Amino acid sequence: MQQSHSPIILGNWKMNSSSQNARVFFETFKNTITNKELEKALVGFAPPFTLLDKVSSFIKEFSINVILGSQNIHWAESGAHTGEISASQLKEFNTKFAIIGHSERRTMYGEKNEHCAKRTIQAIKEAIIPVLCIGENESEYKAGKTKEVVTKQLHESLSNVKIDVKENHTYKLIIAYEPVWAIGTGLSAEPSEANTICKLIKAELFNLFGLNIPVLYGGSVDDKNTSSLIEQDRIDGFLVGGASLKPEVFSSIIRKSTT
Ligand code: PGA
Repeated sequence: MQQSHSPIILGNWKMNSSSQNARVFFETFKNTITNKELEKALVGFAPPFTLLDKVSSFIKEFSINVILGSQNIHWAESGAHTGEISASQLKEFNTKFAIIGHSERRTMYGEKNEHCAKRTIQAIKEAIIPVLCIGENESEYKAGKTKEVVTKQLHESLSNVKIDVKENHTYKLIIAYEPVWAIGTGLSAEPSEANTICKLIKAELFNLFGLNIPVLYGGSVDDKNTSSLIEQDRIDGFLVGGASLKPEVFSSIIRKSTT
Protein backbone atom coordinates (compact mmCIF):
# COMPACT_ATOMS: atom_id res chain seq x y z
CA MET A 1 0.00 0.00 0.00
CA GLN A 2 1.42 3.40 -0.94
CA GLN A 3 -1.17 5.48 0.84
CA SER A 4 -0.17 8.79 2.28
CA HIS A 5 -3.04 8.67 4.74
CA SER A 6 -5.19 6.07 6.45
CA PRO A 7 -7.77 4.29 4.32
CA ILE A 8 -11.04 6.16 3.91
CA ILE A 9 -14.15 3.99 4.13
CA LEU A 10 -17.44 5.76 3.53
CA GLY A 11 -20.87 4.17 3.61
CA ASN A 12 -23.63 5.44 1.33
CA TRP A 13 -26.98 4.34 2.68
CA LYS A 14 -28.83 5.76 -0.34
CA MET A 15 -32.64 5.78 0.22
CA ASN A 16 -32.53 3.07 2.87
CA SER A 17 -33.02 2.64 6.62
CA SER A 18 -35.22 4.27 9.25
CA SER A 19 -34.71 5.70 12.76
CA GLN A 20 -35.30 2.28 14.28
CA ASN A 21 -33.06 0.42 11.81
CA ALA A 22 -30.32 3.02 12.20
CA ARG A 23 -30.34 2.53 15.98
CA VAL A 24 -30.11 -1.24 15.57
CA PHE A 25 -27.33 -0.73 13.01
CA PHE A 26 -25.19 1.36 15.37
CA GLU A 27 -25.84 -0.89 18.37
CA THR A 28 -24.56 -3.82 16.34
CA PHE A 29 -21.77 -1.85 14.65
CA LYS A 30 -20.46 -0.77 18.06
CA ASN A 31 -20.26 -4.42 19.10
CA THR A 32 -18.44 -5.56 15.99
CA ILE A 33 -15.60 -3.01 15.88
CA THR A 34 -13.64 -1.03 18.45
CA ASN A 35 -12.76 2.65 18.36
CA LYS A 36 -9.11 1.62 18.35
CA GLU A 37 -9.74 -0.20 15.07
CA LEU A 38 -11.75 2.71 13.73
CA GLU A 39 -8.85 5.06 14.47
CA LYS A 40 -6.81 3.30 11.78
CA ALA A 41 -9.14 4.62 9.09
CA LEU A 42 -11.41 7.55 8.34
CA VAL A 43 -14.87 5.99 8.46
CA GLY A 44 -18.10 7.79 7.66
CA PHE A 45 -21.77 7.29 6.88
CA ALA A 46 -24.04 9.19 4.53
CA PRO A 47 -27.61 8.37 5.57
CA PRO A 48 -30.69 9.88 3.94
CA PHE A 49 -31.35 13.52 4.96
CA THR A 50 -34.16 12.45 7.30
CA LEU A 51 -31.68 10.43 9.36
CA LEU A 52 -28.87 12.99 9.65
CA ASP A 53 -30.15 14.14 13.03
CA LYS A 54 -30.60 10.59 14.37
CA VAL A 55 -27.30 9.27 13.05
CA SER A 56 -25.51 12.32 14.41
CA SER A 57 -26.97 11.61 17.86
CA PHE A 58 -26.21 7.85 17.65
CA ILE A 59 -22.58 8.63 16.83
CA LYS A 60 -22.45 10.66 20.07
CA GLU A 61 -24.57 8.28 22.15
CA PHE A 62 -22.49 5.24 21.21
CA SER A 63 -19.19 7.23 21.13
CA ILE A 64 -18.25 5.83 17.77
CA ASN A 65 -15.23 7.24 16.00
CA VAL A 66 -16.89 7.93 12.63
CA ILE A 67 -17.98 11.02 10.73
CA LEU A 68 -21.33 11.96 9.28
CA GLY A 69 -21.90 12.75 5.62
CA SER A 70 -24.67 13.69 3.28
CA GLN A 71 -25.68 12.32 -0.12
CA ASN A 72 -25.84 15.78 -1.69
CA ILE A 73 -25.18 19.48 -1.11
CA HIS A 74 -26.58 22.47 -2.98
CA TRP A 75 -24.50 25.39 -4.21
CA ALA A 76 -26.84 28.07 -2.83
CA GLU A 77 -27.01 29.04 0.82
CA SER A 78 -30.82 28.86 0.87
CA GLY A 79 -33.83 29.56 -1.33
CA ALA A 80 -36.26 28.05 -3.78
CA HIS A 81 -34.57 24.70 -4.42
CA THR A 82 -37.18 22.04 -3.67
CA GLY A 83 -35.67 18.72 -2.70
CA GLU A 84 -32.16 20.07 -2.17
CA ILE A 85 -30.10 20.68 0.97
CA SER A 86 -27.67 23.46 1.88
CA ALA A 87 -24.31 23.48 3.61
CA SER A 88 -25.66 25.34 6.65
CA GLN A 89 -28.47 22.81 7.03
CA LEU A 90 -25.92 20.01 6.90
CA LYS A 91 -23.61 21.69 9.37
CA GLU A 92 -26.40 21.81 11.96
CA PHE A 93 -25.77 18.08 12.35
CA ASN A 94 -21.99 18.25 12.20
CA THR A 95 -21.92 16.83 8.67
CA LYS A 96 -18.32 16.55 7.52
CA PHE A 97 -18.59 15.28 3.95
CA ALA A 98 -21.02 15.36 1.06
CA ILE A 99 -21.30 12.89 -1.80
CA ILE A 100 -21.56 14.77 -5.09
CA GLY A 101 -22.53 13.48 -8.54
CA HIS A 102 -23.25 9.89 -7.62
CA SER A 103 -24.06 7.95 -10.79
CA GLU A 104 -27.64 7.40 -9.59
CA ARG A 105 -28.09 11.18 -9.52
CA ARG A 106 -26.38 11.55 -12.87
CA THR A 107 -28.33 8.84 -14.68
CA MET A 108 -31.74 9.09 -13.03
CA TYR A 109 -32.00 12.76 -12.07
CA GLY A 110 -30.08 14.62 -14.75
CA GLU A 111 -27.15 15.70 -12.60
CA LYS A 112 -24.55 17.25 -14.90
CA ASN A 113 -20.84 17.83 -14.49
CA GLU A 114 -21.51 21.57 -14.23
CA HIS A 115 -23.84 20.97 -11.25
CA CYS A 116 -21.16 18.82 -9.64
CA ALA A 117 -18.61 21.60 -10.05
CA LYS A 118 -20.91 24.13 -8.36
CA ARG A 119 -21.68 21.74 -5.51
CA THR A 120 -17.98 20.99 -5.06
CA ILE A 121 -17.07 24.68 -4.94
CA GLN A 122 -19.74 25.30 -2.29
CA ALA A 123 -18.68 22.31 -0.19
CA ILE A 124 -15.05 23.43 -0.18
CA LYS A 125 -16.08 26.99 0.71
CA GLU A 126 -18.12 25.65 3.63
CA ALA A 127 -15.39 23.23 4.79
CA ILE A 128 -17.47 20.15 4.01
CA ILE A 129 -15.38 17.51 2.23
CA PRO A 130 -16.74 16.94 -1.28
CA VAL A 131 -16.73 13.28 -2.28
CA LEU A 132 -17.05 13.62 -6.03
CA CYS A 133 -18.16 10.48 -7.88
CA ILE A 134 -17.13 9.68 -11.42
CA GLY A 135 -17.19 6.51 -13.50
CA GLU A 136 -17.98 5.04 -16.88
CA ASN A 137 -21.12 3.09 -17.77
CA GLU A 138 -21.17 -0.41 -19.17
CA SER A 139 -21.20 0.49 -22.86
CA GLU A 140 -18.36 2.99 -22.38
CA TYR A 141 -16.43 0.30 -20.51
CA LYS A 142 -17.02 -2.27 -23.24
CA ALA A 143 -16.00 0.25 -25.89
CA GLY A 144 -12.69 0.80 -24.07
CA LYS A 145 -13.52 4.44 -23.35
CA THR A 146 -13.08 4.40 -19.57
CA LYS A 147 -10.01 6.64 -19.44
CA GLU A 148 -11.49 9.19 -21.81
CA VAL A 149 -14.88 9.29 -20.04
CA VAL A 150 -13.43 9.51 -16.55
CA THR A 151 -10.94 12.22 -17.48
CA LYS A 152 -13.67 14.36 -19.06
CA GLN A 153 -16.00 13.91 -16.08
CA LEU A 154 -13.21 14.75 -13.68
CA HIS A 155 -12.16 17.93 -15.45
CA GLU A 156 -15.69 19.19 -16.06
CA SER A 157 -16.88 18.34 -12.55
CA LEU A 158 -13.91 20.24 -11.13
CA SER A 159 -14.21 23.23 -13.44
CA ASN A 160 -13.28 26.41 -11.53
CA VAL A 161 -12.70 24.42 -8.36
CA LYS A 162 -9.83 25.89 -6.37
CA ILE A 163 -8.18 24.37 -3.36
CA ASP A 164 -6.35 26.58 -0.92
CA VAL A 165 -3.31 24.48 -0.12
CA LYS A 166 -2.71 26.56 3.00
CA GLU A 167 -6.10 25.63 4.46
CA ASN A 168 -5.51 23.31 7.31
CA HIS A 169 -7.88 20.46 6.41
CA THR A 170 -6.48 16.99 6.03
CA TYR A 171 -8.96 16.13 3.29
CA LYS A 172 -9.91 18.96 0.97
CA LEU A 173 -11.43 16.81 -1.72
CA ILE A 174 -12.04 13.10 -2.20
CA ILE A 175 -12.79 11.41 -5.50
CA ALA A 176 -14.76 8.16 -5.72
CA TYR A 177 -14.14 6.17 -8.88
CA GLU A 178 -17.27 4.10 -9.33
CA PRO A 179 -17.77 2.19 -12.57
CA VAL A 180 -21.54 2.41 -13.08
CA TRP A 181 -21.73 -1.23 -14.17
CA ALA A 182 -20.19 -2.31 -10.86
CA ILE A 183 -22.64 -0.47 -8.60
CA GLY A 184 -25.13 -2.72 -6.86
CA THR A 185 -24.49 -5.55 -9.32
CA GLY A 186 -22.15 -7.78 -7.32
CA LEU A 187 -19.68 -7.33 -10.21
CA SER A 188 -16.79 -5.43 -8.72
CA ALA A 189 -14.06 -4.13 -11.05
CA GLU A 190 -10.88 -6.18 -11.35
CA PRO A 191 -8.56 -4.74 -8.67
CA SER A 192 -5.73 -4.05 -11.13
CA GLU A 193 -8.08 -2.37 -13.61
CA ALA A 194 -9.59 -0.21 -10.85
CA ASN A 195 -6.07 0.64 -9.75
CA THR A 196 -5.07 1.76 -13.25
CA ILE A 197 -8.00 4.18 -13.36
CA CYS A 198 -7.41 5.44 -9.82
CA LYS A 199 -3.77 6.04 -10.79
CA LEU A 200 -4.85 8.07 -13.81
CA ILE A 201 -7.27 10.10 -11.68
CA LYS A 202 -4.61 10.78 -9.05
CA ALA A 203 -2.19 11.97 -11.73
CA GLU A 204 -4.83 14.32 -13.19
CA LEU A 205 -5.58 15.65 -9.72
CA PHE A 206 -1.92 16.24 -9.04
CA ASN A 207 -1.66 18.22 -12.28
CA LEU A 208 -4.71 20.27 -11.34
CA PHE A 209 -4.00 20.97 -7.68
CA GLY A 210 -0.43 19.88 -6.94
CA LEU A 211 -1.83 17.71 -4.16
CA ASN A 212 -2.16 14.02 -3.43
CA ILE A 213 -5.96 13.80 -3.37
CA PRO A 214 -7.42 10.51 -2.10
CA VAL A 215 -9.21 8.36 -4.67
CA LEU A 216 -11.67 5.74 -3.46
CA TYR A 217 -13.06 2.80 -5.37
CA GLY A 218 -16.80 2.07 -5.27
CA GLY A 219 -18.94 -0.62 -6.85
CA SER A 220 -19.95 -3.87 -5.13
CA VAL A 221 -17.31 -3.63 -2.42
CA ASP A 222 -17.84 -6.32 0.19
CA ASP A 223 -15.76 -8.10 2.77
CA LYS A 224 -14.67 -10.69 0.20
CA ASN A 225 -13.07 -8.33 -2.32
CA THR A 226 -11.78 -5.70 0.15
CA SER A 227 -8.30 -7.17 0.61
CA SER A 228 -7.52 -7.55 -3.09
CA LEU A 229 -8.71 -4.00 -3.78
CA ILE A 230 -6.96 -2.26 -0.86
CA GLU A 231 -3.69 -4.04 -1.72
CA GLN A 232 -3.54 -1.91 -4.86
CA ASP A 233 -1.18 1.01 -4.51
CA ARG A 234 -3.50 3.74 -5.82
CA ILE A 235 -6.78 2.81 -4.10
CA ASP A 236 -7.10 4.90 -0.94
CA GLY A 237 -10.31 3.38 0.35
CA PHE A 238 -13.91 2.70 -0.57
CA LEU A 239 -17.33 4.19 -1.09
CA VAL A 240 -19.59 1.35 -0.04
CA GLY A 241 -23.30 1.09 -0.82
CA GLY A 242 -25.19 -2.11 0.00
CA ALA A 243 -22.56 -3.55 2.34
CA SER A 244 -22.57 -0.39 4.48
CA LEU A 245 -26.08 -1.28 5.67
CA LYS A 246 -24.80 -4.53 7.19
CA PRO A 247 -22.86 -3.70 10.35
CA GLU A 248 -20.88 -6.95 10.53
CA VAL A 249 -19.88 -6.80 6.87
CA PHE A 250 -19.01 -3.10 7.04
CA SER A 251 -16.86 -3.70 10.14
CA SER A 252 -15.13 -6.50 8.32
CA ILE A 253 -14.44 -4.22 5.32
CA ILE A 254 -12.87 -1.66 7.69
CA ARG A 255 -10.82 -4.30 9.46
CA LYS A 256 -9.56 -5.82 6.22
CA SER A 257 -8.68 -2.37 4.88
CA THR A 258 -6.52 -1.57 7.85
CA THR A 259 -4.64 -4.79 8.51
P1 PGA B 1 -22.63 -0.70 -3.97
O1 PGA B 1 -22.84 0.87 -4.18
O2 PGA B 1 -21.52 -0.87 -2.98
O3 PGA B 1 -23.96 -1.19 -3.45
O4 PGA B 1 -22.28 -1.26 -5.30
C1 PGA B 1 -21.75 1.75 -4.24
C2 PGA B 1 -22.23 3.15 -4.42
O5 PGA B 1 -23.25 3.35 -5.08
O6 PGA B 1 -21.61 4.11 -3.92
